[in-house]
Amino acid sequence: MDLRQRPRRLRRDDFRDLVSETSLSPNDLIAPVFVDATTDERAPIPSMPGHERVPVREAVNRVEEVLETGVETIILFGIPESKDENGSRAWAENGVVQRATRDITRETDAAVITDVCMCEYTDHGHCGILEDDARESPTLTVDNDATLDRLARIAVSHAESGADMVAPSSMTDGMVSAIRDALDEHAYEDVPIMSYAVKYESAFYGPFRDAADGAPAFGDRRHYQMDPANTREALHEAAIDAEQGADVLMVKPALAYLDVISAVREEFDHPVAAYNVSGEYAMLHAAAEKGWLDLDDVAHESLLSIKRAGADLIFTYFAEAIASTLSE
Ligand code: PBG
Repeated sequence: MDLRQRPRRLRRDDFRDLVSETSLSPNDLIAPVFVDATTDERAPIPSMPGHERVPVREAVNRVEEVLETGVETIILFGIPESKDENGSRAWAENGVVQRATRDITRETDAAVITDVCMCEYTDHGHCGILEDDARESPTLTVDNDATLDRLARIAVSHAESGADMVAPSSMTDGMVSAIRDALDEHAYEDVPIMSYAVKYESAFYGPFRDAADGAPAFGDRRHYQMDPANTREALHEAAIDAEQGADVLMVKPALAYLDVISAVREEFDHPVAAYNVSGEYAMLHAAAEKGWLDLDDVAHESLLSIKRAGADLIFTYFAEAIASTLSE
């Protein structure tokens, strides 16, 4: 055979790494941590094998376990001791995330990102303050503008507790501006905002809603989260958040939206984050449990594909497991 081009030449083990275009590092990974104010014991999350809700007094231990794997950044989610219509425990000085953030930043070297949203704190489970007639109206539920001031308060309370970065996830129009103004006003101009700029109304969040108790009690999130059919709208959303001062732009979920990650990467020079969500984690685990897939291999391949699509950093429930294999 007279073949000039033989791509196989470089696929030998000795060259494979040398010519690889993408790689994973523990530095790119962010581990989600769930802190639960309703319990004194660590409790496994059934739909997310290997993950737990931990009481506040265990938050530091939990984060130290993450650090041992080589992952240095966590995102904190809180389950409050009580919920009300206004989600008021979300900005309480002695709230669950505020207490955990103080402990973690005082006692560990982890960088702490906090999720800024209301769905875990409202008794109705929506990501904001409700319209007056929301319970009767299936289409319009959250009062966008009334929610902005709450989100700003939550972000400031997280910064006051020592959060290194805040990550608003409620898809409220104007949220980045409102939070940036409030942080600056309170002299937190150095606290960056990672915006969940492009967040789809996805069926892949199911296990998280069990983990964080944040499922809406009625209605759905279609009027604030994005339609999975849209890509141009993703660029529009990202442009709005960039314009309002977002420091990092996130796309969520990740695996079913690799084209969107790639489009956002092309269009913006901001760091791009992707959230490899709970359902994406649960489905690989479920298949591995049945012996149908090799978990480490599919997890590694999935995260690599998210990097290849253009994400600089990845929120993933695989962070600890993959970081451990990378440092072996
Ligand atoms: C909202 C929030 C959610 C997730 C992260 N932040 C839930 C939602 O929008 O329903 C989902 C993460 C996941 O599924 O892993 N506070």
